[in-house]
Amino acid sequence: MTRLYGAEGLDLDCVTDLLLSGQLVALPTETVYGLAGDALREDVVRQIFDVKMRPFIDPLIVHIAELRQGKILAEISPEVELLAGKYWPGPLTMVLRKRPVVPDLVTAGLPTVAIRMPAHQAMRQVLQKSGLCLAAPSANPFGYVSPTRAQHVIDSLSGRVSHVVDGGDCQHGIESTVIGLQDPERPVLLRPGPIGREQLEATLDREVHPATAHLDKQAQVSPGLLKKHYSPAVNVDLLPHGFSDLPPEITSGQAMVFFQRPKHITGDEDYDLFWLTEDGDPTVAAQNLFALLRKLDSGSRYSRLWIEQAPSEGLGSAINDRLKRAAAK
Ligand code: TXA
Ligand code: MG
Repeated sequence: MTRLYGAEGLDLDCVTDLLLSGQLVALPTETVYGLAGDALREDVVRQIFDVKMRPFIDPLIVHIAELRQGKILAEISPEVELLAGKYWPGPLTMVLRKRPVVPDLVTAGLPTVAIRMPAHQAMRQVLQKSGLCLAAPSANPFGYVSPTRAQHVIDSLSGRVSHVVDGGDCQHGIESTVIGLQDPERPVLLRPGPIGREQLEATLDREVHPATAHLDKQAQVSPGLLKKHYSPAVNVDLLPHGFSDLPPEITSGQAMVFFQRPKHITGDEDYDLFWLTEDGDPTVAAQNLFALLRKLDSGSRYSRLWIEQAPSEGLGSAINDRLKRAAAK
């Protein structure tokens, strides 16, 4: 049985106690829902991998409430302080040289640890009340689409997770940007996300190297860069943004997802035709992306989705990154 909690007051006191006693709780963050547990207890971290059916080679992100905690977990350079000052709390994860206190299980034996200070008020309150550092991967079975509402967690982890806090729909809808800062002189973008590479470069005043050029090679650097990830069960084929050829004929069992509502469709969602935004706003497209993928993947109405990519700039590149992984064969 899964128990659902509200995102304030006594409910948060209750889940804080659960976390302090070594249990796992699915919690909302501003990006996606996470499956949280005490990052410094190996037995707890092991449960997270179990519930997600996640291979031990894929390291977890540790969530903190204050930079002070980050200093206990990792080496904090002036570049980290700069980025933290600007983007924390918020959707930025930094991969840093770890200190021995972090269990090897959390970091998959890597010499680095990923740290993030989330902004969602429920997650922040739980972090503050408990004083814990919380390991929290996205609350989905390994390789599947991340959850952006409490019901998604229940849909895909039902029976495997006992406690879920309902904080409504996630603000960003895609996972945090991950930047590698082991060598502050040579920052690397390990996962594109809500905070763009251009923004990070402007803050750091140096180039942030893209990591997506050699996906499979990079998978060894950051296993979350595995080519096939965030995948629905249904087949996904991508179309370029603003594709000019006629859309492929949609036969029975196929759906078409436009980036933006096509002008000739004035009513509600047409049969088998969907879109991520009404007016082309990439922020809204990102918010809707995973919920729509999950919706079209549920039941067995569709065997194939044709999805138009986002414009490839800013947040659009993060959306396209997720789409390419969903489409990877
Ligand atoms: O928005 C998010 O980041 C969400 C919420 C819940 O905070 N969390 C999330 O966690 O997306 P997860 O486990 O689904 O993705 C973590 C990513 C993976 O791609 C993992 O390989 C990478 O971060 N990562 C974690 N530790 C790392 C490390 N030490 N070095 C390189 N990559 C690391
Ligand atoms: Mg994930």
